[in-house]
Amino acid sequence: MRALVARPGAETGLALEEVPDPTPGRRRVVVAVRAVSLNRGEVKGLAGAAEGTVPGWDLAGEVVEAATDGSGPAVGTRVVGMVGGGAWAERAVVPVDFLAPLPDEVSFEAAATLPVAGLTAQRAIQIGDRCADGRVLVTGAAGGVGRFALQLAGHLGAEITAVVGRPGRGAGLQELGATTVSVGMPERGEFDLVLESVGGASLAAALAMVAPGGCVVSYGCSSGEDTTFDVRDFYRRSGARLHGFQLFPELQRSGPGTAAHDLDTLARMVATGHLQVQVGLEVGWDEAARAVSALLDRQVDGKAVLRIE
Ligand SMILES: NC(=O)c1ccc[n+]([C@@H]2O[C@H](COP(=O)([O-])OP(=O)(O)OC[C@H]3O[C@@H](n4cnc5c(N)ncnc54)[C@H](OP(=O)(O)O)[C@@H]3O)[C@@H](O)[C@H]2O)c1
Repeated sequence: MRALVARPGAETGLALEEVPDPTPGRRRVVVAVRAVSLNRGEVKGLAGAAEGTVPGWDLAGEVVEAATDGSGPAVGTRVVGMVGGGAWAERAVVPVDFLAPLPDEVSFEAAATLPVAGLTAQRAIQIGDRCADGRVLVTGAAGGVGRFALQLAGHLGAEITAVVGRPGRGAGLQELGATTVSVGMPERGEFDLVLESVGGASLAAALAMVAPGGCVVSYGCSSGEDTTFDVRDFYRRSGARLHGFQLFPELQRSGPGTAAHDLDTLARMVATGHLQVQVGLEVGWDEAARAVSALLDRQVDGKAVLRIE
């Protein structure tokens, strides 16, 4: 089969090459991949990826070989799933605990956006659960996770401030659930829940605006900057929490099958129109390098998707 392979020396860091076909296993099916989406973390990781590895976390496609123990979906089932690597290929082996059936109404391209970005938004909101129907601040709101977070927090009745980096990036965010769009962090305010992915000064500002008893969920550092914050100011916000979040360990901790369950929920929400998928860039996988650059350059409104053709 063909796959996009990490070649750190190559100009784009990726090459489309022949690699061995994956084989199914116990509680692991083989999926013919039709579409994948890119995530900032995996794209940034390409530079340091081991030569010859196949990257890729999010995928949607069709089961072509069932698990050897008969668990999971049957051959022919349309699915959406996630892996720790290896999705950017014609075929991928996927644990049944990280796989959900795909309603016919949801395209492979739409489904491929859901795993990492959708589950991160959903889980981060759950962590701040008791604050999530109050005043919510979402940083990096124009990106993949941000656009899902706006909608999921909106369903809880939150009053949401969406933070973007420049004016044009705020287009369409109010339609997704933002009450207010702020270019840069707001100068003042108090928030019960902050979903924070930019790091640096953005995280410091979040810690200075979290309400007593509120929660800052820190799941990214898109800026790459370190954070200096006023400790005295933070602890006087009595009961306020800073929660470090990483999706894969979070899913492992919450037990087998919970990722599949939550993916199933997200896919059904898309099918019924309760969750909009925002694909800002969709290209064939022979144009992966263009999609990678666009995402790193903050040119993608929402998710970047590759069709595996
Ligand atoms: N911990 C986890 O398990 C986990 C899971 C998913 C994602 N993440 C992380 O969460 C962050 C958001 O993920 P995503 O998939 O939504 O990424 P994305 O689609 O690339 O969006 C990132 C957003 O961050 C904003 N941003 C602000 N300052 C930035 C800077 N200096 N450099 C780059 N972007 C900047 C950009 O908005 P503007 O262009 O409007 O400024 C952009 O919309 C990423 O850092 C990602 O690695 C972590």
